[in-house]
Amino acid sequence: MLTKRFVVIKSLKTQLLALINDAEDIEEATFTKVTQVLKNAGKPYGVDEQGRLNISFFDAKAYDRDVFDRENKQQHNLIYHTARLGYQTAVLAKGSKVVCIFVNDICDGKVVEALAKQGVELIVLRCAGFNNVDLDACKQHSISVARVPAYSPSAVAEHTLALMLMLNRNLHRAYLRNRAGQFTLDGLVGFNMKGKTVGVIGTGKIGQCVIDILLGFGCKILAFDIYPNASYANKHDVTYVALNELLASSHIVTLHAPLSKDTYHCINENSIANMKQGAMLINTSRGGLIDTKALIQGLKSKKISAAGLDVYEEEADIFFQDMSGEIINDDVFARLLTFNNVVITSHQAFLTHEALQNIADTTLENIKRYAQGKEFKDIRG
Ligand code: NAI
Repeated sequence: MLTKRFVVIKSLKTQLLALINDAEDIEEATFTKVTQVLKNAGKPYGVDEQGRLNISFFDAKAYDRDVFDRENKQQHNLIYHTARLGYQTAVLAKGSKVVCIFVNDICDGKVVEALAKQGVELIVLRCAGFNNVDLDACKQHSISVARVPAYSPSAVAEHTLALMLMLNRNLHRAYLRNRAGQFTLDGLVGFNMKGKTVGVIGTGKIGQCVIDILLGFGCKILAFDIYPNASYANKHDVTYVALNELLASSHIVTLHAPLSKDTYHCINENSIANMKQGAMLINTSRGGLIDTKALIQGLKSKKISAAGLDVYEEEADIFFQDMSGEIINDDVFARLLTFNNVVITSHQAFLTHEALQNIADTTLENIKRYAQGKEFKDIRG
């Protein structure tokens, strides 16, 4: 529809330009001015010369370009910005009605207003979590918001297990030792996963995948969710318990609930005090679920024996960047890095070929539905 209108306008402009071109007695200055106005007149906003939708990508990485360029097949004009979306960079969306963002792009009320002023109509998140987007502001400015609700729960679940096993069997320490020619086993003693109790907080898509894998290891599963899934629990060997009971009884606690007002710092000084002595804590959900200072105290007191973190509450200033030549100014994060029983990955749990493919497919489908005026699941509510 958009393209059709653009083609009509383009043909009218061509005819008018031809007429002016033929008008021999027209002044040079007038000729230039009129042709310039005509060239720009009626040009629909948000599309390129070929009538393709301009889509501004923020925080775009090489792996984003690879998969989106391949799947886009020249359908839309994809404009990649390495900068993150924020108030200073919102101007980069000029000329685009669609912006595509990721987990650490800032999309608060001020940014949404700036995007709306530039004619942005749709924000597509190439991720599941949307805690970084002010949905009320989007509603107020009539900006639609779409996301990729499930691109690969298995990718995140398998990374969760990788962190558990790495910490349990001290693979990170063994790897470094062996590289240095030190083939001793002291300090590398782990524990059998079989028979251990794992507490899963949040039993949605990812939580269930984690449980499925853990059941294969012979673990006992305790679960907590504000919306317990009784049919899933009955079919699998899963017991829903109160949060305090889960914390007190689990050898490993793993977090799979979204970040919200309710879950912010749900792992704090009190909840850590409730945990089993020497428990392992894993977070592949969102950094804000853990009060990091409380976690550091828990590690220092040995209440927590190990922590596997794919996310960190202040990750936006650190993750996805090469900081190897920089001084880390975040003292809390720097302290975390000093523990040899903490493994940090920089929000990479999603990063598999399959997940990237699904992210690109769903995001392009969301954009297609918008362009065709069809409905899609808007998360503005
Ligand atoms: P989901 O929506 O399928 O499941 C979330 C579950 O958490 C639901 O069952 C919900 O009822 C439960 N929940 C909500 N509030 C709760 C609370 N206060 N206490 C306990 N449970 C609560 O989401 P999915 O796909 O399983 O993803 C979970 C989270 O994982 C996402 O919100 C996202 O933040 C994170 N994630 C991290 C990735 C990474 O690369 N590290 C990639 C994808 C998602």
